[in-house]
Amino acid sequence: MSEPRNVRDLLRLGERVLDDSSHIFEDHDNAGSARELLGHVLKTDKGKLKQKREVRPAQRDRYLALIARRAAGEPMPFLLGYIEFYGLELKVKPGAFVPRPSSELVVAQALKRLRRRRSPTVVDVCTGAGPIALAIADEIPDADVYGTDILAEGLAQGRANARRLRIENVKLKQGDMYGSLPQRLRGKVDVITGHVPYVPAHELDDLPAEVAEHEPTLTLTDSSDGTYLMEIAIREAHDWLKPGGWLLLEMSEDFAPKARRLFKRHGLMDRGVASDNDGLSIVAEAQAPS
Ligand SMILES: C[S@@+](CC[C@H](N)C(=O)[O-])C[C@H]1O[C@@H](n2cnc3c(N)ncnc32)[C@H](O)[C@@H]1O
Repeated sequence: MSEPRNVRDLLRLGERVLDDSSHIFEDHDNAGSARELLGHVLKTDKGKLKQKREVRPAQRDRYLALIARRAAGEPMPFLLGYIEFYGLELKVKPGAFVPRPSSELVVAQALKRLRRRRSPTVVDVCTGAGPIALAIADEIPDADVYGTDILAEGLAQGRANARRLRIENVKLKQGDMYGSLPQRLRGKVDVITGHVPYVPAHELDDLPAEVAEHEPTLTLTDSSDGTYLMEIAIREAHDWLKPGGWLLLEMSEDFAPKARRLFKRHGLMDRGVASDNDGLSIVAEAQAPS
């Protein structure tokens, strides 16, 4: 095959290289990634790339270098420098958990539960770089939103995004689970959200390089069976929620039955499970008694 020079041929080549990679999730939309990377290099919306457009050699080299990094497992948001999350453009870099589109579901569920609550208080445990906390704070300007995480790097990225996007009603605090929250919030929280690490320790080796080599292990696993931190999130929620307040936990579907048993064991009312079309993760919901 002659050297690819136009958009169509470069996209084909990029998709083929990505399809051959064993370092990225098998179900990833590689055609979409190739379009996104070429659009990024050409500074053109990926939906507006003209198939026959000629690509200059320097741009072609930049694109192929990005394809090679992607094929080696680098997450797309690191290559682009940002991720779109619930309408916000969040800058991301290595050192923290990369926000996932699947977490938009927990944001949507939180907004539903916060509707009609005046100046609500929201806590996002295990907030990482804070996508869930930032999105809720942006959508509800009179909410007081706290995000907590044990690792400093994600929090620093989250604070930088909050400053850049002028989201002022969010505070990101370092600490173990609920440990860094002000005591005055006890019994006052309207909604707690959480995307806690749930990959069982024995499954870490099965993760593709795009996760295992690019995100800190502490952001992925609870070093146990996947329910250790989840149980803490549930057990202690009762002390922080106000009567009728909600706990919304993002998890994979197989953990839902255990989470729902834990809700009942720790004094919360099981309110079922929300899911969206991609089926990648679900939100298990519980409410403190009124
Ligand atoms: C799956 S990531 C989710 C991050 C973020 N909520 C998101 O959706 O992008 C889990 C987060 O839990 C944090 N974490 C792990 N152990 C923790 C602990 N004991 N207390 C607080 N945060 C913890 C990790 O640092 C990581 O940022």
